[in-house]
Amino acid sequence: MGLRRWALAAAVGAAAVAALAAGIAPRSARAQADAALRVPDAFASITDRARRSAALFLEAGKVFQHPRCQNCHSGDDQPHQSEGRPHRPPVRGGADGVGVPGLRCAACHGEANYDAAGMPGVANWHLAPVSMSLRAPLAVICAQLKDPDKNGSRTLDDIAQHVATDALVIWAWTPGPGRRPAPGTHAGFVALMRAWADTGAECPRAP
Ligand code: HEC
Ligand code: HEC
Repeated sequence: MGLRRWALAAAVGAAAVAALAAGIAPRSARAQADAALRVPDAFASITDRARRSAALFLEAGKVFQHPRCQNCHSGDDQPHQSEGRPHRPPVRGGADGVGVPGLRCAACHGEANYDAAGMPGVANWHLAPVSMSLRAPLAVICAQLKDPDKNGSRTLDDIAQHVATDALVIWAWTPGPGRRPAPGTHAGFVALMRAWADTGAECPRAP
């Protein structure tokens, strides 16, 4: 019996190796691929600079359109939670994004994740302005990122700097248990954004 079970396990193991070798990714590997980010060099074969730039942005878009970023960049003055449902309780960002009097974000969200209560947190936790919505198509997000009237009067360099250093952005890769982190690594995302800026910050075409 013990031997038969061992033989079965060995056969299953061999089958898994064979499937991998044949390039047929099991479901878990597929999920990992969705959670990964390609490096800028992976786009080197696109010789047209503008097309390469837009392709780099599409890859970075996996992060922009991830719930860890969209939940704060909801575009409707209320944060979202989990995979994107409206926040409970139904708080509002208010004029400065930190909540309305009596229901400030900081009443619940601390300076770090509080894992025992499943409570996400970073210092200065607040809602992004409506003009910075990330719940939008990537062509729209891209244009918005370059528009000083919508992006908080930032230059492209400021944007690259923001995604490289902002604690709220960085939080998305360490969101605490029970939350899917943003795809890839923070460093990988920053590299894509810099490569995008360096290639002219071209936007993908509207779908
Ligand atoms: C009464 C307490 C309370 C207040 C006030 C509050 N939150 Fe929350 N918030 C929570 C809890 C609890 C969760 C975790 C829910 C979950 O993940 O299931 C949460 C989750 C979130 C998330 C989801 C993070 C993610 O991606 O998983 C965001 C974004 C958020 N809050 C933003 C805000 C903002 C912005 C404010 C102020 C305008 C605010 N919250 C005020 C309790 C609160
Ligand atoms: C806890 C809430 C929160 C989370 C999570 C968050 N942001 Fe933000 N983000 C903000 C706020 C608030 C601002 C506006 C800050 C300002 O203008 O001073 C902002 C500004 C930005 C800006 C600059 C202006 C613009 O046009 O958007 C970028 C880029 C940005 N965030 C990207 C991201 C990305 C990418 C993620 C996820 C990896 C993310 N943010 C996660 C709250 C958040």
